[in-house]
Amino acid sequence: MDIYKYLKKDHDKVADLMEQVISTKDLSERQALFETIKLELSLHADTEEKTFYKAIDDATRSKAVEEKVEHANEEHDEIREYLGKLTKTPLTDELWIETFGEFKHSVAHHVEEEEGDIFEKAKKYLSQEEAVQLAKDMDALKKQAKKEMAVSAPAPLPAE
Ligand SMILES: [Fe+2]
Ligand SMILES: [Fe+2]
Repeated sequence: MDIYKYLKKDHDKVADLMEQVISTKDLSERQALFETIKLELSLHADTEEKTFYKAIDDATRSKAVEEKVEHANEEHDEIREYLGKLTKTPLTDELWIETFGEFKHSVAHHVEEEEGDIFEKAKKYLSQEEAVQLAKDMDALKKQAKKEMAVSAPAPLPAE
């Protein structure tokens, strides 16, 4: 698998989870789905920056391409802000689903640009071998981060 397929798989997974948030009326299910989206999307953005975006940045001397990567980074920050806002807003507040709609729109826009513009530029600057290696690197970083989270998570309370 190369980085393009790897990223697309992640994007499709999150898009599907977001659809489920909209279609369910069950708030505890919504909460659980949102927690998964938050984890998946945060890990995706962090590791994508460290592998894919970095590789493009390192490979290009084009100011225009660097600016595209910078713009994509800014969109990641916007996505992180939405995640923070949604975490702070109670799900019972009708503002939550409204904000979620904006957030979903923002993610869809970012993904469209990434799979279009950024992929096109990346394919110009990165070899297929690099693209395969980047998928491995990103996956390894994600697994490492998940392992660290499991270690730092509080131990479950003993059953009564
Ligand atoms: Fe992405
Ligand atoms: Fe991205």
